[in-house]
Amino acid sequence: MTEAPGAATFRVAADAYDRHIGRYGPALAAGLIAAAGIRPGQTALDVGCGPGALAAALADLLGAEQVAAVDPSEPFAQACGSRVPGVRVEVAAAEELPFGDDSFDASLSQLVVNFMSDAPAGVGEMRRVTRPGGTVAAAVWDYADGMTLLRRFWDAAVALDPDAARLDEGVSMPYCRPDELGELWHGAGLQDVETSELVVEAGYSGFDDLWQPLESGVGPSGAYAAALPAQRRTRLREELRRRLGAGEEPFRLTARAWCVVGRA
Ligand SMILES: C[S@@+](CC[C@H](N)C(=O)[O-])C[C@H]1O[C@@H](n2cnc3c(N)ncnc32)[C@H](O)[C@@H]1O
Repeated sequence: MTEAPGAATFRVAADAYDRHIGRYGPALAAGLIAAAGIRPGQTALDVGCGPGALAAALADLLGAEQVAAVDPSEPFAQACGSRVPGVRVEVAAAEELPFGDDSFDASLSQLVVNFMSDAPAGVGEMRRVTRPGGTVAAAVWDYADGMTLLRRFWDAAVALDPDAARLDEGVSMPYCRPDELGELWHGAGLQDVETSELVVEAGYSGFDDLWQPLESGVGPSGAYAAALPAQRRTRLREELRRRLGAGEEPFRLTARAWCVVGRA
């Protein structure tokens, strides 16, 4: 299967991800679970689990044995398996889920739909493995506006390097607007489709705490930063610091995600 641009940037150590986007994971998982109306007694699948923020929240609510998770990144699937014991974790992509039809009451996906190589196929698989009447739901960042960290990052990158415009996730990422997500869900044959926004926050001990994980190359933003020659990377770092107005003091950033929920 061909990978979508950006998907390979998640084959890194889980702790680099934790300190970058992973900071927002637990709060976003709580919002997605609430929006999807997941309740104790149900079974659920986490598609593109990463190191396990959503799988952990699902396991807390439903019990680990009621939860399964998949991710094509081996280090992330391994991290999820060791962080959320009892959850069945497989190395697999959304487009070919290793489960039978109607296996779960709900299939959820957090920050993944835009990285799928074939999102209609991936969401179609989420519907297939969800029992009729069950829930298929996802959240993706509002890269174009409300995801402050990534918006400021790409604004800084493009200001210094116009060629970065084609990599700006606010432009390059598909399925990152409510209307596109709604169409994707309807196209997969899901019913009662609703979109909404989820706004979460993460804290940083200072600007270095935000910058360091980017240098490890995680995610499309980290991959861009890590590939720059040292001098240009320092310029990007200072431009991002200026745009965020951040220094050595602790600060918080908000991040908006779009959420879509439908019934199988
Ligand atoms: C931004 S991370 C989100 C991880 C996790 N869900 C979270 O909220 O922290 C994107 C994840 O999508 C995974 N991914 C990439 N392509 C995928 C695909 N085709 N099917 C399922 N997951 C995929 C990556 O390996 C990565 O773990």
